[in-house]
Amino acid sequence: MFPRETYESRRSTLMSRFDGGLLLLLGNSESPMNYADNCYLFRQDSTFLYYFGLEQPDLAAVMDVDADTTIVFGEEHTIDDIVWMGDLPSLASRAERVGATDTRPTTDLAKLLGRAVTAGRAVHFLPPYRAETKLRLQNLLALAPEEVAREASEVFIKAVVDQRARKTPEEVAEIERAVATSVAMHETAIRMVRPGMKEMEVAAEMERMALAAGGRIAYPVIATINGQTLHNHYYGNTLSEGDIFLLDTGAETAMGYAADLTSTFPVGPHFDERQKVVLEIVLASYEAAVSALAPGVPNREVHFTACRTIFEGMKDLGVMRGDTEEALAAGAHAMVMPHGIGHMMGLDVHDMENLGEAYVGYAGEPRSTQFGLKSLRLARPLEPDFVLTIEPGVYFIPQLMDLWRSEGRLASFIDYDELDKWRDVGGLRTEEDFLITAHGARRLGPRKPQTVQEIEELKG
Ligand code: GLY
Ligand code: MN
Ligand code: MN
Repeated sequence: MFPRETYESRRSTLMSRFDGGLLLLLGNSESPMNYADNCYLFRQDSTFLYYFGLEQPDLAAVMDVDADTTIVFGEEHTIDDIVWMGDLPSLASRAERVGATDTRPTTDLAKLLGRAVTAGRAVHFLPPYRAETKLRLQNLLALAPEEVAREASEVFIKAVVDQRARKTPEEVAEIERAVATSVAMHETAIRMVRPGMKEMEVAAEMERMALAAGGRIAYPVIATINGQTLHNHYYGNTLSEGDIFLLDTGAETAMGYAADLTSTFPVGPHFDERQKVVLEIVLASYEAAVSALAPGVPNREVHFTACRTIFEGMKDLGVMRGDTEEALAAGAHAMVMPHGIGHMMGLDVHDMENLGEAYVGYAGEPRSTQFGLKSLRLARPLEPDFVLTIEPGVYFIPQLMDLWRSEGRLASFIDYDELDKWRDVGGLRTEEDFLITAHGARRLGPRKPQTVQEIEELKG
């Protein structure tokens, strides 16, 4: 937990953006896996964590802008709770640690909100992403199911996004801790893979290391010899000499801050020639994107800088052809790079995605519907203190290649016979995390091995 002043100051900044009314934040509840008492690992809502730092389930908070008070709602532990879960600090003492002025039992929340609604006061709340939170909002505010999303407060969303998007030095230090753990995880994986091993052994070691560092993984591990499937969570394959392994994993610290790193490395001691050629294109794209990072630069441009390098690399291989700018505008590069160059990162690995990417990554601009570009989560101009990922990749996706070829899609830019020669190479990506500074950007945490030489040296 950060010092009490951190939470007090975050809340007072938030409240200063409103002329009056109530700001309602609901924490998360336990989420049953297969029966009520067997739950998924509890994860607090990130916005609740940001303003209150309290990890326990079933909390809520109301900031009354007019009265300048903050009330945390929850239940004190019963003797049964203590018997099953141990002696825990009281709600009052936990709230006091984060500077909340008052605590009340959960039943008081409905009464307080009912009075506010009757008095015509504004009750601002954020769009819910869990079914139980939607239900709770319906009940608390007497809303019909379809009204919940519609009534979510745009000014509240914008205020939270503005604040959470700019990381303070103490948040950056926490993210760098997550990255340091994650770099150690990646180095371990690069050293440990060998023919005969299963993908799940690598995935298991990644989870172990994140837990041993005091946190957990920030998102499900991708540990696969089929990196061309972008979010591949299958770990059943046995590794063979000649396979290329894509690892996308990041730790989350005890306070909930994420890292997000990807490495691609050979199962055997060396990359083969084609893997090397493709990795060099990915790394050139990464370097170009990183060099483009600066305040004021729209991240859409950073994306196109990365894609331009990939398209040029594909041209050098004879796979793509034609005028680069025309090809980029038409989306030809998306055949091998169908996702965006990166996204914001913080308390969520895709930071604040639950509040709406239109607010987080587009700030009101329209989002493209073109294949590839529609998956760019962050397009808006970068600002100092933003934290984001840079994650270019090149993927040979047989089903996509066959579909586009059968349609003759963008055939003036893609030589499908040449492309077909690469269909068994799979997918390669590299990913690191950056802070936008006053004049450019700085990589967060230690550098991970990512060149052909660095990776082969680490494998010994
Ligand atoms: N780890 C998911 C992503 O890179 O966006
Ligand atoms: Mn990732
Ligand atoms: Mn990412």
